[in-house]
Amino acid sequence: MLPLTNKDSALAAELYALAFPRAWSKEEILRLTELDGFFGFICPEGMIMLNQVQEEAEIYTVCVRPENRRQGIGKKLLSVALKHAERNGVSKVFLEVAADNHAALKLYESFGFSQIGIRKNYYNHVTDALVLACSLPLIPKA
Ligand SMILES: CC(C)(COP(=O)(O)OP(=O)(O)OC[C@H]1O[C@@H](n2cnc3c(N)ncnc32)[C@H](O)[C@@H]1OP(=O)(O)O)[C@@H](O)C(=O)NCCC(=O)NCCS
Repeated sequence: MLPLTNKDSALAAELYALAFPRAWSKEEILRLTELDGFFGFICPEGMIMLNQVQEEAEIYTVCVRPENRRQGIGKKLLSVALKHAERNGVSKVFLEVAADNHAALKLYESFGFSQIGIRKNYYNHVTDALVLACSLPLIPKA
């Protein structure tokens, strides 16, 4: 798992397209990697992308190749990203997730994310988006 840079935009676009119906082009990903607060991590099986503004960070996406899911890669990506965020002074992390995305919700909840808002009919005018947040440092589970 290595820091995601503009050189990874082709692999990142491929991974994204395998996970989401509306693909992000290589160019869109390139633009994200050029944001001042951008950081991310990538490996051949998955990636995570975030943006930091002062003490807050937003997770833009996390995805794992379909054939490599349920092997702990999503957990590892999130863990590496949250540790990096904490070291960089982030105290609050936000994200949006489709209300019916049970796999992602379980993953985020296992890191202590909880719902702070809802955007009705946000995806395709049908599915609600849940806004989740967590505070850093993470409190280790007993
Ligand atoms: C969400 C996603 C990144 C999880 O990646 P992953 O590598 O399969 O996740 P992990 O193997 O690290 O699983 C971590 C935990 O998440 C939860 N989880 C993951 N997939 C799950 C599933 N299909 N059903 C229920 N829980 C699931 C479990 O709690 C799991 O822990 P466990 O295996 O010990 O039970 C992956 O399913 C994915 O790429 N989905 C499509 C893209 C997406 O929806 N991204 C989130 C957008 S907000």
